[in-house]
Amino acid sequence: MKLCVAAIQISPKLGDLEENLVKTCTFIEKAIEKGARLLVLPELSNSGYNFENKQQALDCSEPVPYGPTVKEWEKIAKRHSTWIIGGINEKDQEKLYNSAVILGPKGYIGKYRKLHLFAKEKLIFQPGDTPIEAIREDNFSFGVMICFDWAFPEVTRILTLKGAEIICHPANLVLPYGQKAMQIRSLENHVFTITANRVGKERDLTFTGQSQITDVKGNVLAKGSKSKEEIVIAEINIELARNKKITPYNDLIKDRRPEYYSFLVR
Ligand code: ACM
Repeated sequence: MKLCVAAIQISPKLGDLEENLVKTCTFIEKAIEKGARLLVLPELSNSGYNFENKQQALDCSEPVPYGPTVKEWEKIAKRHSTWIIGGINEKDQEKLYNSAVILGPKGYIGKYRKLHLFAKEKLIFQPGDTPIEAIREDNFSFGVMICFDWAFPEVTRILTLKGAEIICHPANLVLPYGQKAMQIRSLENHVFTITANRVGKERDLTFTGQSQITDVKGNVLAKGSKSKEEIVIAEINIELARNKKITPYNDLIKDRRPEYYSFLVR
């Protein structure tokens, strides 16, 4: 089964929910016009990233799923029968989470709260508390992880073991090798990955763009520029992610030796 997927590479404006809502909806509509059925938006697409303090982050957060951004994205997902996965600065009481919402043709599916917070995110957000789950649709399945989760291969591996064929990866990458690591996540799990990274600068941080879609051998099918807002799009053949054989004798999943891995979860 073939599926057209897209990474939306934009530069959200720090602290401006309204402007970011207009921009994300415009880009989502454009990607759908180009034929995309599953779309990924960057991390914290509603709010921007590099907050000076928690109050600034609180001022541009919203509840999930009843906040204004998620409601508008949900309308588009339903109207066009598409899947949208996008990063959201989520407010829950007085707590903030670096989350991704997951929307499909029937509306809100769920959310994932980033497990591995990067650098000063730890001063703003609660560590994620949602399980690592794959979402099964009629013809394909996918999972979600956020940005720095790339450095913890356990996340992609668990998503793969739970059946995810596509890894949706909203990101605000700043280190120079996150994209390279995602090629390896693809290869070692035989899954497709869609990294939607942002561009632009906020205070002392420059985001690295180069959003990418990888195939199950770690090849880059489509890649964005370092600094332009754009849509990165590719057609993927889901069947390829169902074959985990890396040689005629080796299967990436069946050859695992979990009885030797208990040290990992001590
Ligand atoms: C990151 O996790 N936003 C680098």
